[in-house]
Amino acid sequence: MICLGKERLHLPRGLCFNRLTLTYMYFDNHATTPVDPQVLDAMLPYFKEQYGNPASGNHKKGWDALSALEAARKQVGQIIGANAQEITFTSGATESNNIALLGFARANKDSGNHVIVSQIEHKSVKDTALKLKSEGFDVSFVECNSSGIVSVESIEKVITPKTILISLQAVNNEIGTIQPLEEVAKLAEKKNITLHTDLSQALTTLSIDKNKIPFDLATWTAHKMYGPKGIGALFVRQKSPRIKIEPLLFGGGHERGLRSGTLNMPAIIGFAKATQLAIENRNKDYEHLKNLRDFIWKNLSQKLNGLKLSGDLNQRLANNLNFVLPENVNMEAFLKKISPLCISTGSACTTAQIAISHVLKAIGRTDQEAQRSVRIGLGRQNTFEEAQKAVDLIVDACSLRA
Ligand SMILES: Cc1ncc(COP(=O)(O)O)c(C=O)c1O
Repeated sequence: MICLGKERLHLPRGLCFNRLTLTYMYFDNHATTPVDPQVLDAMLPYFKEQYGNPASGNHKKGWDALSALEAARKQVGQIIGANAQEITFTSGATESNNIALLGFARANKDSGNHVIVSQIEHKSVKDTALKLKSEGFDVSFVECNSSGIVSVESIEKVITPKTILISLQAVNNEIGTIQPLEEVAKLAEKKNITLHTDLSQALTTLSIDKNKIPFDLATWTAHKMYGPKGIGALFVRQKSPRIKIEPLLFGGGHERGLRSGTLNMPAIIGFAKATQLAIENRNKDYEHLKNLRDFIWKNLSQKLNGLKLSGDLNQRLANNLNFVLPENVNMEAFLKKISPLCISTGSACTTAQIAISHVLKAIGRTDQEAQRSVRIGLGRQNTFEEAQKAVDLIVDACSLRA
């Protein structure tokens, strides 16, 4: 997506003026993706004439909303082969992860007080695990290797008879590494431990099926798959005995009592449409993104000496690159020079804190290397023309020495 033109800015108190916008290229699709126009089209009627509340059981507006809600729930679940009844809508993956960890551990503390999470989880899992620790749970943070992969053995080693929950992301949001989810799920099943997996970055390019991989809880979010922000899913496997989870929000008892609060219908409809498109486009998206990613990496590594890729080259998301720029690059000047390029120098969710990425630290990057790290997250909308421009910009900006 390249934008060049006049943008009309509306300022407070009715002030407005025209200014020439910069050409920009959006390569930060791990932070968020643009909303697909088909998704927006599907959502719009739910802001207008279809404004009913699915909890209104006495009239047509409510019944129509309920049938749209249940159709959307079915569609959203399909991406992992789940039944509609296994899907709970939340405000996003952060909330889903909080319910999965806090809600599950609190409801099952009589069965054990030990929880295992990987050291490179997203902060919405990591900090929730720390919260559990503050509540008296024993939490093991399992390390990854220098390629950013968490081994099954390292998880098996810390399992105790008190372990009730393991949380392992399918894919890392910073360095794109694909974790051995299937093996860990089989281990958890064998040991009768509940497994949670954060699928937030996985579903647009990887096929993950709950009927093939025995995880119990899964979480994801629409805005990483060309859907709207503020809507997420929590999958809870239907099994016997039933998986117990305590709600975090109380009120009207929506979502079978697990998540009270009036449902965000426009966002849910958008989530369902984004899911349908993700399923339909997955193979095409994968090929396109992998070709773009390989093109960028081949060109950059040919033109720049001393680039270091963070994370495994093969066991990696098709749309991710994360690399350390050569020594002596002047980062301030570099960032200025590449400003038409929307990329991330850390996890988007932590950049506000300007902290060194815990993931880059976990794979052994020094503070200096982490500061010189750049993450590219490619999206369905990116083109080879943009990829070529990005390579040229980065190579050019690297010539600016400290
Ligand atoms: C792996 C992962 N989990 C969870 C989240 C949080 O998702 P949300 O923004 O929907 O709360 C993100 C977002 O960056 C993510 O990448």
